[in-house]
Amino acid sequence: MTAPALAPTEIPGQNPDAPLVEMRHVSIAFGGIKAVDDVSIDLYRGEVVGLLGHNGAGKSTLIKILSGAYAPDSGEIRINGAPATIATPRDAKAYGIETIYQTLALADNVDAAANIFLGREILTRWGTLDDAEMESRARKVMARLNPHFRRFKEPVRALSGGQRQSVAIARAIQFDARILIMDEPTAALGPQETKQVGDLTLSLKREGLGIFLISHDIHDVFDLADRVYVMKNGKLVGSAKVADVTKDEVLGMIILGKCPPGAIPGPGAASG
Ligand SMILES: Nc1ncnc2c1ncn2[C@@H]1O[C@H](COP(=O)(O)OP(=O)(O)O)[C@@H](O)[C@H]1O
Ligand SMILES: [Mg+2]
Repeated sequence: MTAPALAPTEIPGQNPDAPLVEMRHVSIAFGGIKAVDDVSIDLYRGEVVGLLGHNGAGKSTLIKILSGAYAPDSGEIRINGAPATIATPRDAKAYGIETIYQTLALADNVDAAANIFLGREILTRWGTLDDAEMESRARKVMARLNPHFRRFKEPVRALSGGQRQSVAIARAIQFDARILIMDEPTAALGPQETKQVGDLTLSLKREGLGIFLISHDIHDVFDLADRVYVMKNGKLVGSAKVADVTKDEVLGMIILGKCPPGAIPGPGAASG
């Protein structure tokens, strides 16, 4: 399988060596609560980056800013080194940013192909749905993700959690995603299916996508991620290459906000 065409040099003003995503000093408050407070994170091509923290830490809010669901109060987003305006989910998709939420938002009563092309249906020259073309493309993208998948003719209601997750990911990557955001993708899955989603994540990484993997469970991400960011109370505790820290040290970042020597402290790191 060939890698997706990552050709940022073709886009004027963009720099192929720059990170795929840079979020700089991003903040947003709801009422009086600073859900995200001066957070800066990066993502490179072919990288899996874990975003960790307890429930309520601000992880989902941060990535909803990147996916165009929320407008930040302050801060900047750069894509391939150029400033990006992401005001709506449509804007995010135009930058190749696709998001898979914990609640998969699949249409249960229709099949995999219909879900993959939901809202972006392929039409024939007569303006009718091109079901044959959509099924053929669905088979191609699923072959990349989950070669054992056979249940193309069934409503996705009938599928297992792991199969449903593959359909959601297929929908995300069908449209030239370069940046994939997975928010708690395995929260509802058993160990076997969690492993399947992990394998899938790594194959997309090999294709050159940048992937943000959000989780409140360190075990979900530690084996998959190249780097992790830890958030606590809306602030960035710090970041680390997974190779430079232990699981216990990352737990210390999540629970106590304490940065070990192998991590780069952020504005939310506990002092002392
Ligand atoms: N739409 C919203 N309105 C008000 N408060 C919100 C909203 N979304 C998130 N919050 C608050 O922002 C904080 C961060 O939440 P969230 O980003 O969902 O955390 P996480 O994903 O890390 O569990 C929490 O205190 C949450 O209650
Ligand atoms: Mg969340």
